[in-house]
Amino acid sequence: MGRILLYGRPAPGLMVIPAGAEQVSPLVPGSTDLADLAEGEADGALILAPPGTLERDYVMAQALRTVRPQGEIIVFAPKDKGGTRLRKALEGFGCEVFEEARRHHRFCQVERPSTLDRLDLALRAGAPRRLDDTGLWTQPGVFSWDRLDRGTGLLLRTLPELKGRGADFGAGIGLLALQVLKSAQVTELTLVELDRRAVRAAQHNLDDPRVEVIWGDVRQLDERITGLDFIVMNPPFHDGGQEDRALGQAFIRTAAGRLRKGGVCWLTANRHLPYESVLQEHFRRVDLRADDGGYKIYEAQA
Ligand SMILES: C[S@@+](CC[C@H](N)C(=O)[O-])C[C@H]1O[C@@H](n2cnc3c(N)ncnc32)[C@H](O)[C@@H]1O
Repeated sequence: MGRILLYGRPAPGLMVIPAGAEQVSPLVPGSTDLADLAEGEADGALILAPPGTLERDYVMAQALRTVRPQGEIIVFAPKDKGGTRLRKALEGFGCEVFEEARRHHRFCQVERPSTLDRLDLALRAGAPRRLDDTGLWTQPGVFSWDRLDRGTGLLLRTLPELKGRGADFGAGIGLLALQVLKSAQVTELTLVELDRRAVRAAQHNLDDPRVEVIWGDVRQLDERITGLDFIVMNPPFHDGGQEDRALGQAFIRTAAGRLRKGGVCWLTANRHLPYESVLQEHFRRVDLRADDGGYKIYEAQA
């Protein structure tokens, strides 16, 4: 069967994943980066396409670049999360597509043609880049990749000068960290982020000896990150689904466990998300510090 690449984590039972398939999603810590693979190095690929257009076209272009001619590529996605656009996008690269609908997904199967169209365009459009207006590194697909999120903006305006050892949970490209590091009294700052693309961007954006950037899951945090003086975070929320609420709540519980007694957690939350009760449950004191434009900022003391 050869070297088969797998991008993303398909729902259980959706398809047969070949044993030994190599994970290439940036959201799986430790996975291979498609961009590091040579042309034609892989024999096939299964791609759970991400919903954003630039990100999706980039991933498909990388898969087409890295799979050898005649190798099989299956690109699939839920119908309502870009699945219905896959066929056209693949045809735009010069592929002949066999499309199938199953379990609310669209599956597009192609044999990698020997010549491809528009590949460079998609690779360039989805590549890491430095934005002209902010001078910051980012990449399509990372959280709020080309604009300041309103929740982040409100937290940036509200944060006081912090001091000591701290962490930034779900740090993205490092916007909160940049602000925190303006304080000379901050001695160490550990950023934890699940998305490899954001991790790499943050490493470029934060050239500071006090910083460590960890590519990992906040819910499986290294034991040594403990006894902290402060934590800042804008927890992941996406569309506010059940799973995402649980994720934000797990961030809060983890923060409470990693602060020293008296340490503080500053967090921003979309107003409709039920974080207040979890905060009350795990922290000694919880204060609302700002409430604006649909977002709330809390300061919670362990
Ligand atoms: C709402 S964004 C905030 C990003 C950044 N702090 C900001 O304010 O611009 C949440 C971030 O958490 C990351 N994330 C999601 N799940 C995670 C997890 N389990 N562990 C670590 N980071 C995670 C996402 O990739 C995303 O960058």
